[in-house]
Amino acid sequence: MERISIELGTVQETLLSTLYARALETGKKKRGLIQDPRAVEMVEQIDYDFTKFVGSPTLGASVLRTLFYDDWVRKFLSSHPGGTVVEIGAGLNTRFERVDNGRMHWVDVDLPDAMELRERFFSESERRRLVGGSVLDDSWFEVVRSLPAPYFFVSEGVLLYLDEADVRSALGQLAQGFPGSRVAFDTAGRWMVEHQGDEMFVKTVDAEYSWHCDDPEVVQRWDIGLRLTESRTLLQLPRGLRSRLPLVPRLALAGAKAFYGKKARVYMLNLFESQPSLSASNQ
Ligand SMILES: C[S@@+](CC[C@H](N)C(=O)[O-])C[C@H]1O[C@@H](n2cnc3c(N)ncnc32)[C@H](O)[C@@H]1O
Repeated sequence: MERISIELGTVQETLLSTLYARALETGKKKRGLIQDPRAVEMVEQIDYDFTKFVGSPTLGASVLRTLFYDDWVRKFLSSHPGGTVVEIGAGLNTRFERVDNGRMHWVDVDLPDAMELRERFFSESERRRLVGGSVLDDSWFEVVRSLPAPYFFVSEGVLLYLDEADVRSALGQLAQGFPGSRVAFDTAGRWMVEHQGDEMFVKTVDAEYSWHCDDPEVVQRWDIGLRLTESRTLLQLPRGLRSRLPLVPRLALAGAKAFYGKKARVYMLNLFESQPSLSASNQ
């Protein structure tokens, strides 16, 4: 089989690490937290030295992170089965395949080179669009508006690579453009951003986090129209998700929680709501 050669920008390359994390987890015989056979296939087909990720502690963390977001998206879809999920910085994530209820709508957005790669593996359908674009521009907003509201925007492992000013402007235009929507993204505290190069994090790619945010409520205080509704550390698995974990990871999680305590707040997963438009809130 001829493998697919790739050429990705520095930040875009990070999508291969989260892809590999899901493939590796799927390959675990008994204790895998996620089943993602498409990730395994993609890793087999892409010409890239994935072995450099082996041993990186971020792999396990990225699997947990993706499960959290799956859970939030499933909850959204259980209340709004025909609504639209927008995956910003989709990489080669297979969330659509993992949560598809047969009625939902979906938009995957990523930078042009990452989207070109994504298009080698995923196709558009009546319910799904693939768009090359940046979270920093609004060129893809019309595609989203062509699909049914309400909207859930997920941006997993993406905003951290931007400068604070860019994060603020990207989130502001999202909140203004899509009032009454849900917006989920992760934040890393100053300690984590300043120590990302430390040996313990086993650095495998050149991309670096830029935006640090010690308290996700700061985003609410920016007054750009986003209200924080939920914020969790990676160790605070939602109850339903925790009970689905096999015994060993569940015990490991409890141990990690006892060990890290408040330090786990250096990385938060956050769910915001954009303010409803005035006309909608007056109805
Ligand atoms: C760590 S990867 C995460 C990929 C995917 N969300 C996942 O969890 O597997 C970061 C992703 O952010 C995308 N990205 C970086 N900057 C972006 C931007 N300005 N607009 C949209 N996507 C961006 C990259 O191309 C890459 O796919």
